[in-house]
Amino acid sequence: VGVGTVGNTFIEQIKVQKQELMDRFKININLCGISNSKKMVFNENGIDLNSWRKKLDSSKEKADLDKYMERMIELNVPNAVLVDSTANAEISAKYHIPLNESIAVATPNKIAASGDIKYYNKLKELSSKRGVKYLYETNVGAGLPVVSTLQDLIKSGDTIIKIEAILSGTLNYVFENISAKSTLSEIVKEAMDLGLTEPDPRIDLSGLDVARKILILAREVGYTGELKDVDLKHFIPKSVVGSKDIESFWKLLPSCNESLEKERAAVAAKGAKWRYVACFEKNKCTVGVKEIVDGHPFYTLKGSDNMVLFTTERYKKQPLVIQGPGAGAEVTAAGLFADVIRMVN
Ligand SMILES: NC(=O)c1ccc[n+]([C@@H]2O[C@H](COP(=O)([O-])OP(=O)(O)OC[C@H]3O[C@@H](n4cnc5c(N)ncnc54)[C@H](OP(=O)(O)O)[C@@H]3O)[C@@H](O)[C@H]2O)c1
Repeated sequence: VGVGTVGNTFIEQIKVQKQELMDRFKININLCGISNSKKMVFNENGIDLNSWRKKLDSSKEKADLDKYMERMIELNVPNAVLVDSTANAEISAKYHIPLNESIAVATPNKIAASGDIKYYNKLKELSSKRGVKYLYETNVGAGLPVVSTLQDLIKSGDTIIKIEAILSGTLNYVFENISAKSTLSEIVKEAMDLGLTEPDPRIDLSGLDVARKILILAREVGYTGELKDVDLKHFIPKSVVGSKDIESFWKLLPSCNESLEKERAAVAAKGAKWRYVACFEKNKCTVGVKEIVDGHPFYTLKGSDNMVLFTTERYKKQPLVIQGPGAGAEVTAAGLFADVIRMVN
């Protein structure tokens, strides 16, 4: 479900890799159903990967999530996986339906894993009771192996002391590039033109997406809090980042330039840099701007990369570091693809 930026790339990657998976690994992947917000199409023997878009567009069946779930259950395909590649809350509130029918779920959609803890626990319980996976590796760091690494550390008996992470490529780009010459509003616009921000950059600048990601990681460690419990510090006044529409936001943003530059220059004069850091330590999640000194792994993080540091009993002297591009259709779709293959394994 969902054939936008990530979903479309995911299908294209299956198309390219399908034969290789069959020949080398004896894995046969079939796409038995596709839906976007308007239409849906099914074929239990597999929809032709060269003409799926045409078939979907010309389908007579209107998109209907309940019917989609029903059809998926009726088809009763072995090793079935629901792939949710939307950012939709309605579908993530229905993951219990396939899981209860022993159909696995793989998704880059963060809503369920960072939503109501009771529902989150229900999904985890169903997944374990029915022996099918609920995988969301791409929720944090896109294609980077962040969630699975954390799960492996925990399963192998390590104790997580601290998680520190830069989880917004957009905000890393902003803090890397603002200077005496380049103001905040100019750099945000530049990031948007480069396609690094969400269509609505308020989503990135509010830090909410980062808060969701650290919550997802913290929950792996056993944290039972909700999104509202994440201590999220805004670096842009709420009146700006929460402005009523996007036009007012662009008008108001330059009003933050001067004071932010003053503070940034003071930090730079000390030889430090600002980074937008998410942290989980002592059962608390925090998100906000931090001063990072030379020598810290975050100090040299360039461009729009993500970085996650796991400090554990076993990785105490030096944290385990995961770094790389934390967004983008290709890497996210590849992470999703890897989750789907994991189901078969
Ligand atoms: N893009 C990235 O780099 C990235 C990285 C990590 C995670 N993610 C996550 O991946 C997910 C997908 O992102 P995206 O960038 O691919 O989004 P997108 O381009 O906006 O695509 C969303 C797709 O979902 C479909 N959709 C929306 N509501 C639906 C509904 N009720 N029923 C059926 N289909 C529905 C849309 O259908 P229409 O085409 O009909 O509108 C569209 O095909 C999001 O949860 C996002 O947070 C993205």
